[in-house]
Amino acid sequence: MPRLGAHLGMANLLVKRDDLTGLAFGGNKARKLELLCADAIEQGCDTLVTGGGVQSNHARMTAAAASRLGLDCHLMLGGPHREPKTANLLLHHLFGATLHFTTDLELEAGADGYYALEHAIAGLTERLALAGARPYPIPIGGASTLGAVAYALAADELASQLPDAGLALVDTIVVADGSGGTHAGLLAGLPETTTVVGVDVGTRPDLDTAVASLSDAAATARRRPAPTGNVIVDHDHFGDGYGAMTAAGLEALRLTARLEGIALDPVYSAKAMAALMTRVRDGRIDTASTVVFWHTGGAVALFSTRYADALSKL
Ligand SMILES: Cc1ncc(COP(=O)(O)O)c(C=O)c1O
Repeated sequence: MPRLGAHLGMANLLVKRDDLTGLAFGGNKARKLELLCADAIEQGCDTLVTGGGVQSNHARMTAAAASRLGLDCHLMLGGPHREPKTANLLLHHLFGATLHFTTDLELEAGADGYYALEHAIAGLTERLALAGARPYPIPIGGASTLGAVAYALAADELASQLPDAGLALVDTIVVADGSGGTHAGLLAGLPETTTVVGVDVGTRPDLDTAVASLSDAAATARRRPAPTGNVIVDHDHFGDGYGAMTAAGLEALRLTARLEGIALDPVYSAKAMAALMTRVRDGRIDTASTVVFWHTGGAVALFSTRYADALSKL
């Protein structure tokens, strides 16, 4: 990102384009779903079950993966079900998933909402099994050991790409943290000389411990030593909570669009970029170092009616 890097006074700002992973408009969940769906098929399951907010990218990509593999898909969505069918909600329909809405279990409600939604996914899985299906439950955001392993493999992929970029190592990676599996997998896969800054977008209350335990689990699954460093999570950028736009996020979204022609999303990547910019400006990230912004996707949400007002003022 040479133009955004120059704007921030940085020598080496790069972007990993996981917004271009290719499944149903792309995003980080494609890597997790590749391993999770293989496991589902190996176990003889015929139905993927997961959930998230009404505008969940993970739900959209799970629905698309199910279509591609000839599996059924049931989505438990927490949030107002009268929202117009736009953006991800439109795509859940398009990919033929069966939708269930938990009227009073809004993810936006914070801490309790997250656990209530996980509970609702478990309940739905049981009901489907009783009805004769072979359901494969996937936690919110694909935050399981396999999901984290997918990101340890992504770290290997990044390492293999560095020579082409003329780089020996990356000093810092900045990534959005929702359910924590992406951050966890990167920690498990990267050398300890690379600092991973996860930026909490307000999805789950136990984020720090979830990242730590998922990264240990991913390392163990790969028969590697568990990471020993501290988990670094930036809790200063989620504003009023999951899905709520922030002024710094809007600025990050605008600058990345105008200087790089890259669309971030209002819920995850814009807040992660806002944290990166804050850390460069206050000196926590050295402008001479090599920094990779891990773009996790999500730009479909730009087309949700929720953000139309805020985004029209950019
Ligand atoms: C666009 C986008 N970025 C980042 C994340 C966070 O990834 P993780 O859940 O692995 O923390 C998600 C999903 O939660 C997402 O949809």
